[in-house]
Amino acid sequence: MSIADQPGPDPAYAARAAALLRAAANDLKRNDVSAEADLGLPAGSFADYTSGRLPITWDLVGRATRAWPLNERDLLPIHDDTEHGLRVVRAKESLASSRIIERGGGPYYEYRDTAMSRLASYRPEWIKMLRVVGDNDPDNPSVNWNKGHLLYQFTYFVGPVNYYYRSGDRSFCVPMSTGDSVWGLPFAPHSFTARSATEPAYILALTYGGELTGDAQRELSAFGHAITGSLALTPGDHGAMLRALMAARLVTVPELARRSGLTGERISQLGATPGRAGWDELVALAGALGVSVRELLVPHTTTEHDVRLQPAGAAPTWEHPGPAGPAYRFTQLAGDPLHPHTTSLQVEVLTSRADSPLPPTYQHQYLFVLGDEPLTVHWHHHDEPFAARLEPGDSAYVIPGIELSLSAEARTRLLMLRIAGSTTPEVRFALGAMPAGGLGRYVAEDRLWY
Ligand SMILES: [Fe+2]
Repeated sequence: MSIADQPGPDPAYAARAAALLRAAANDLKRNDVSAEADLGLPAGSFADYTSGRLPITWDLVGRATRAWPLNERDLLPIHDDTEHGLRVVRAKESLASSRIIERGGGPYYEYRDTAMSRLASYRPEWIKMLRVVGDNDPDNPSVNWNKGHLLYQFTYFVGPVNYYYRSGDRSFCVPMSTGDSVWGLPFAPHSFTARSATEPAYILALTYGGELTGDAQRELSAFGHAITGSLALTPGDHGAMLRALMAARLVTVPELARRSGLTGERISQLGATPGRAGWDELVALAGALGVSVRELLVPHTTTEHDVRLQPAGAAPTWEHPGPAGPAYRFTQLAGDPLHPHTTSLQVEVLTSRADSPLPPTYQHQYLFVLGDEPLTVHWHHHDEPFAARLEPGDSAYVIPGIELSLSAEARTRLLMLRIAGSTTPEVRFALGAMPAGGLGRYVAEDRLWY
């Protein structure tokens, strides 16, 4: 069976699979004759597979992973389920996914899926609180807690929702209202209830794996708990970063002192404390280690007890493109410096014309229409213009690199969550450093390397 038979139509999938096979053989320095010998294929057939004339089959993937130091997934492309770069999920499709989750012997949440794509790590849910409480006590016995989960969670609140979170042995309850938001770290236990049985009380729970899921998780789960723990770095600990780079390069304190001009005593001190070196010291150390200064700097976090709360009333708001003739009003929602590539916004669409494009971003984008009025998304994909009308409750996923415009006949609001995918800054710099012609072969290898 061809690996392209599942799960849906994607004409380019088979071509991407063919290119991956050629790239893998190139990496292993196998030409067609040696590949055919390794994989037990008839003479002349390898070129048929790598050109797409023959489909890549599960049998072929099995042969390759038995003969070569590869994983099955190394030969499997991912599925593109977008149309012209967007995937729209209608409110009625979300409604059709509705399921009630019981906790503590009664209904607790109603879950509905919103726009997900096989191209991004979003698992965004619309969740209605079915448990009603009469107080803001985190120890209220009718509150049922989860055990926490791997994914990061950005949550946007609508209506009288109580948010509960636990850090260590401390439990908290924060009464939330429409427009409040929170960003939470993985595995922090939490729960939600309603303060009213009659008013709408729901959340948009936009969970995502970002860089944590995918390859990193698979690599680390093979190494195990102890090694994973040894690789963990504490946010804000610049000294640990310096020690890690010195260990990686097997550079001793006296050798780094000799190369950098700093004293051995100062280097030991910088490695032993979380504090950051001065700029001149950073430049000297980076030069001595042969790295950029950014490799010696670490992110910090503004989370408290594993979450960052953003009350609506204290959230920064601004107009785009400017205060004169604004097309959009943005409100910045919860986020954290630990995730600099995540952007969460409430967007008010103030224009009825598609004349205020938002600059393209490297981020994946998620949109959910919060307001009671529809809006239209305008975009270009491979230079062709497209438009899609989003009704209240509709959601959409947008691939990176797309210039979007939003327009609405009547003012409306949407939620926008932008996250990074696997294309980290390191990958982007590597792409930018490739010689001419490299990008085309990186995304679709089409030839023997020699
Ligand atoms: Fe959650």
